[in-house]
Amino acid sequence: MKETKLNDGTAIPSIGFGVFLIPSDGSTYRAVQTALDAGYRHIDTAAAYFNESEVGKAVKDSGISRQDIFVTSKLWLQDYGYEMAKKGLETSLDNLGLEYVDLYLLHQPYGDVEGAWKALEEAKKEGKVRSIGVSNMTVNIWNHFVPHFDTLPSINQVEMNPFFQQKELRSLLEKDDVRLEAYQPLGHGNKDLLENETITGIAKAHGKTNAQVILNYLVSLGAIVLPKSTNEERIKSNLDIYGFELSREEMAAMASLDKGVGSHDPEAPGVGEMLLKNYRVHD
Ligand code: A2P
Repeated sequence: MKETKLNDGTAIPSIGFGVFLIPSDGSTYRAVQTALDAGYRHIDTAAAYFNESEVGKAVKDSGISRQDIFVTSKLWLQDYGYEMAKKGLETSLDNLGLEYVDLYLLHQPYGDVEGAWKALEEAKKEGKVRSIGVSNMTVNIWNHFVPHFDTLPSINQVEMNPFFQQKELRSLLEKDDVRLEAYQPLGHGNKDLLENETITGIAKAHGKTNAQVILNYLVSLGAIVLPKSTNEERIKSNLDIYGFELSREEMAAMASLDKGVGSHDPEAPGVGEMLLKNYRVHD
């Protein structure tokens, strides 16, 4: 599995298995088990996905050494602020049944972000998390919060796919050697993207699927990709994205698909309040 070095020296596998919206009715356990069997060594969950315990159980039951699996979880908004964040992390570790997570992210950039970040910095020092980062930070949001942090995040996990290539954010993060993680790299199953003619042409030329071309392209831009699937064939094929390289012309054709907007706008008024209202991780 190809890895990328983070700015704190930790190595992270370039493809992770995302479990957003996979229910906690045994489906997450089975999907993670299938992913680990297929060779994934990086699983991305969150407190607000409500499936950490199935992820942890699948990791444990896999028989793979803990240090060989990279596990990410995320602190939910409801647990922001310094004290709450400390408790939130303990709850995540309990639910996962793990002594540490490899990466812990602030899931959303609203509320007492600075207090929560301080708790993450301390957790890293205590060895409860190996790397720390943020999520859903646009250029404006990054510039609002991050200059006040003592420690630079290692990761910013954001929506990214060929229709939304995050050009401006990528160049900002590159300066500080911060890695971008792409959630919904396949456009969340968007047919216009997955069946796009340009991508289909490139995929045919390489004998690959459209999804494999998309993931290969995003990784070649420096992103860590988190494709999600509950289908065994697709779980496997989404990992098989190496062994071919897009030509300069193909890279340019992929770049031209960028519309510069995604489905989620973290800067839209009231987003933080809406998320907080709709996702409650505890009473
Ligand atoms: P399924 O679970 O049936 O495979 P994203 O990772 O961008 O959120 O996209 C996830 C969506 O894309 C899911 O609906 C998933 O459906 C679908 N998907 C995942 N992998 C592939 C693939 N290789 N080809 C087509 N659709 C895929």
